[in-house]
Amino acid sequence: MLLSALWSLWSLDVVAALVTVYGQIPLGITSALAPTATVAAAYNTTVLDPPEVPNPAPPTSFTLTVPSANTSVTGLSIPIKGTFYGFSVEMSVITQLFGKNSSFLQVPLLNLFANIQERAGAVHVRVGGNTQEYAYYVSTLPDGHAISKEKANTNNPTETPAVVYTVDLFYLLSNISSLVNVKWYIGVPFNDTSDFRLQIVEYGEAILGDNLLGVQVGNEPDLYAAHGHRNSSYNPQVYADEFGELIAALTADSKVPVSNNLIGPSVSGTWTPEMVWNTGFISEYTNNLAALSVEHYPTDNCFPTYGIGTYHDPQIEFANFLNHTSGVSLCKPYLNSSAIAQAAGKPFLMFETNSASCGGFPGISDSFGGALWALDYGLQMAYSNFSGAMLHVGGQNVFYNPFTAPPTNVSRYYEWTVGAVYYSALISSEVFGRTNTSQIVDILGNGANIYTPQYAVYENGALARVALFNYITDATGKSDYTATITVAGGTVPASVQVKYFLSDSVSTKNNITWAGQTLGTIREVDGRLKGALNVVTVACDTGANKCLVPVPAPAFALVFLTAEAPIATATFSTSTHTNTVNTATINPSLLATSNGMSGANWQLGLGSTSSGDNKNGAGGAAMRADVIVGAMGLVLVLGLWY
Ligand SMILES: *[C@@H]1O[C@H](CO)[C@@H](O)[C@H](O)[C@H]1NC(C)=O
Ligand SMILES: *[C@@H]1O[C@H](CO)[C@@H](O)[C@H](O)[C@H]1NC(C)=O
Ligand SMILES: *[C@@H]1O[C@H](CO)[C@@H](O)[C@H](O)[C@H]1NC(C)=O
Ligand SMILES: *[C@@H]1O[C@H](CO)[C@@H](O)[C@H](O)[C@H]1NC(C)=O
Ligand SMILES: *[C@@H]1O[C@H](CO)[C@@H](O)[C@H](O)[C@H]1NC(C)=O
Ligand SMILES: *[C@@H]1O[C@H](CO)[C@@H](O)[C@H](O)[C@H]1NC(C)=O
Ligand SMILES: *[C@@H]1O[C@H](CO)[C@@H](O)[C@H](O)[C@H]1NC(C)=O
Ligand SMILES: *[C@@H]1O[C@H](CO)[C@@H](O)[C@H](O)[C@H]1NC(C)=O
Ligand SMILES: *[C@@H]1O[C@H](CO)[C@@H](O)[C@H](O)[C@H]1NC(C)=O
Ligand SMILES: *[C@@H]1O[C@H](CO)[C@@H](O)[C@H](O)[C@H]1NC(C)=O
Ligand SMILES: *[C@@H]1O[C@H](CO)[C@@H](O)[C@H](O)[C@H]1NC(C)=O
Ligand SMILES: *[C@@H]1O[C@H](CO)[C@@H](O)[C@H](O)[C@H]1NC(C)=O
Repeated sequence: MLLSALWSLWSLDVVAALVTVYGQIPLGITSALAPTATVAAAYNTTVLDPPEVPNPAPPTSFTLTVPSANTSVTGLSIPIKGTFYGFSVEMSVITQLFGKNSSFLQVPLLNLFANIQERAGAVHVRVGGNTQEYAYYVSTLPDGHAISKEKANTNNPTETPAVVYTVDLFYLLSNISSLVNVKWYIGVPFNDTSDFRLQIVEYGEAILGDNLLGVQVGNEPDLYAAHGHRNSSYNPQVYADEFGELIAALTADSKVPVSNNLIGPSVSGTWTPEMVWNTGFISEYTNNLAALSVEHYPTDNCFPTYGIGTYHDPQIEFANFLNHTSGVSLCKPYLNSSAIAQAAGKPFLMFETNSASCGGFPGISDSFGGALWALDYGLQMAYSNFSGAMLHVGGQNVFYNPFTAPPTNVSRYYEWTVGAVYYSALISSEVFGRTNTSQIVDILGNGANIYTPQYAVYENGALARVALFNYITDATGKSDYTATITVAGGTVPASVQVKYFLSDSVSTKNNITWAGQTLGTIREVDGRLKGALNVVTVACDTGANKCLVPVPAPAFALVFLTAEAPIATATFSTSTHTNTVNTATINPSLLATSNGMSGANWQLGLGSTSSGDNKNGAGGAAMRADVIVGAMGLVLVLGLWY
C-alpha cells in the first residue's frame, strides 16, 4: 500500500517536474499550474527601449548638505540590518535551487548566499509561498528526495498543488546554514484549520534551532476566498480567530517547544493591514508574534498567462519602474502600520515582493533598470521602517528571479543564471553593512527630482555612506551628474571611496557590474563575483568641505565616507556532479582542514583598491580551491538528479 502510494507520488513527480508552479495565482484562476512556456521566462532575451531623457532633464549638478551625526537628522529610520533584503523561495523550487536532499547542496546557491553573508553577516531566506498551504509530511520520498510536488487533489480542483516533504528538508536547510550563515523563515500549512499539520514547525524547531527566525501563519489570507481556499464569508476577524486556533494547536503540541515565533498577517493588498489590526490581532497575540508582515507586488502580469485582468505592455510599464515615485508610493500605504509595529515592539516585514505578480515582466524584471528600481524600493522600505524584505524566487517560468538554477535535465551542461535584482540585494547588504546600527534617510536633494534619488546612511550614529541613483539612460553623457557632498556639523574626509553599479542602459541584462565585478550572463553563473574589483577613490576638498562624486546615466553609486573593513567571501567550487560519470569524491584531507570557511579562500573587497589584490579575478588565478566541506562530509554538487 505504502509502496504503491510512493510509486504514484513518483510518477506524479516526474510529470510535475516539467511544469513550473507559480508563486502567485491571480484571482479567478482555479489551478496554479501554468502552461509551460516555449522559451522559459528566466532566459527571455527581450530588451526594451529605455525611456527618453525627460524634459525638463534633471539638473546635473547639485549639492547635498548632509549632517555628520544622526542626532541632527529628522526622519531617520530605525536601525536596519545588512540582512534587510533576503529571498523568498517558493517551496516547489527547493529541489532545483537548494539541492536534492541534505547530502547534495547546490554550490552556486552557497556562493550567492556567501556573497551576501560576507557583507551582512547573514542571509535571511523565507521558504514558502502559496505552495506551503497544502504541504504535507511523508516519511520518505522516492530516490532520496527531500521535497517533491504533487498535482492538485482531484477532490478539490481549486486547490494549489501540494508540496510533499520529508524530515530531510530540514537537514537540507540546516546543512546550508552550517556552511553559510542562512537564517530561515518557514510557513505552517493553513489550508485546513481542523488539521494544521504541524510537522513543519516540529521539525523546523527541532532541527533548525536558532537558525529558524520565524513561522509564517497564512500566506495572503486576503486572497483565500478568491482562490477558493475559504468560502466567501472569510474576513480579517475569521483569519485572526484561526490564528488563535493555530496558537492553541501549537501550545498543545509537546513537540513544539516554542510558539512565540509566529508571523502574520501577510496580507497582500486586498485587505489593508489596518483591517487586521482592527480585530485586536496585535494585542491579542503579542506574546506569540515575532514580526508583523505584509506581501505586495506593485503590479501584475497575469494577463498573458491567465487571460485575466488588464494587459500591461512592458514597454509602457518600464517608465513606471524608473523613477523614485514608485518606491515612495509603494511604501506610503504601510507607514501607519510600520509605526504601529514599532509601537508594539515588532519588526515589520515585506514577506514577499518583486516587480510584478504572475512572474514579472519580460525586459523589466531582469533588467538593469529593474535592479535600480528594486534597490531604491528596498532603501525606501528601510527608510519607511520595514525591518526586512524578501525578493521572491520562482521557477524557470518567471522573469523576476534573483537567481535561477538550470532545469535538472540540463544541469550538467549549464550553470546558473542571475537576474539583475540579485545585485539589488547584494548592494543593499553593503548599504547597511554588518553593525546592525545603520539608519537611513531619503535626502530628497536636487529638488527631490524623481530621477536622481539619494539616501544617507548613519552607522553607530555617524554619517557613513551616501547612496546616489541616476535612473536616466543617456549615452551622450549629458545626463551624467555630479553630486557635491558637504558634511554639516563636520567636514568631509580627505577622500571617499565609491562603488558603482553600472550598465550601458536601464534595458540591459547581461553587462552589469558592481564595483567592476560581475556574476556573469545567462547560464554561466557559478555564484562568484568575477573580474577585478574596482573601487574608485574620489579626492575631496577638506578646506571647502566638498566631495564631488560623478554619477553616470544610468548608475547607482555608493559613497563610503569612512574606512570599511575588507569584504571577504568564502567560495564553493562547482566542479562536482551527482551523475555517475563525473562524481567527485571528497578528499578526506580537505575535510580535516576545512571548517566551511577556509581562510585560504578569502577574497579581498573594499579597502583593497588595487585590483591585483583580488584573488577572485576572472583572468587571474581564479579560486578553484576545491570543494569546501563541513565536517559532516557533504557532497556539494551541481546536480543531475533525474
Ligand atoms: C519573451 O517573453 C515574451 C512574453 O512571454 C514572449 O512574447 C517572447 O517571445 C519572449 N522572447 C524571447 C526572445 O524569449
Ligand atoms: C489541506 O491539504 C491537505 C494536504 O495537501 C489535504 O490532504 C487536505 O484535503 C486539505 N484540506 C482542505 C480542507 O482543503
Ligand atoms: C540523497 O539522494 C541520494 C540518491 O541520489 C541517496 O543515495 C542519499 O541517501 C540521499 N540522502 C539522504 C540524506 O536522504
Ligand atoms: C546534514 O544532514 C544530515 C542528514 O543527511 C544530518 O545527519 C546532519 O546532521 C546534517 N548536518 C547539519 C550540520 O545539520
Ligand atoms: C463559511 O465557512 C464557515 C466556517 O466553515 C461557516 O461557518 C460559514 O457558514 C460559511 N459561510 C458560507 C456563506 O458558506
Ligand atoms: C492607523 O491604523 C490604526 C489601526 O488600524 C487606525 O485606527 C488608524 O486610523 C490608522 N491611521 C491612519 C492615519 O491611517
Ligand atoms: C514615475 O513612476 C510612477 C510610479 O510608478 C508613475 O506613476 C509615473 O508615471 C512615473 N513618472 C514618469 C514621468 O514616468
Ligand atoms: C521611522 O521611525 C522613526 C523612529 O520612530 C521615525 O522618526 C520616522 O519618522 C519613521 N519614518 C517614517 C517614514 O515613517
Ligand atoms: C529537458 O527537458 C525539457 C522539458 O521537458 C525539454 O524540452 C528539453 O529538450 C530537455 N533537454 C535535454 C537536453 O534533454
Ligand atoms: C546583528 O544582529 C544579529 C541578529 O539578528 C546578531 O546575530 C549579530 O551578532 C548582530 N551583529 C552585531 C555586530 O551586533
Ligand atoms: C544615533 O545612533 C546611535 C548609535 O547607533 C543610537 O543609539 C541612537 O539612538 C541614534 N539616535 C537617533 C536620534 O536616531
Ligand atoms: C559593458 O559595459 C561597459 C561599461 O558600461 C562598456 O564599456 C562596454 O562597452 C559594455 N560591453 C558590452 C559588450 O556591451
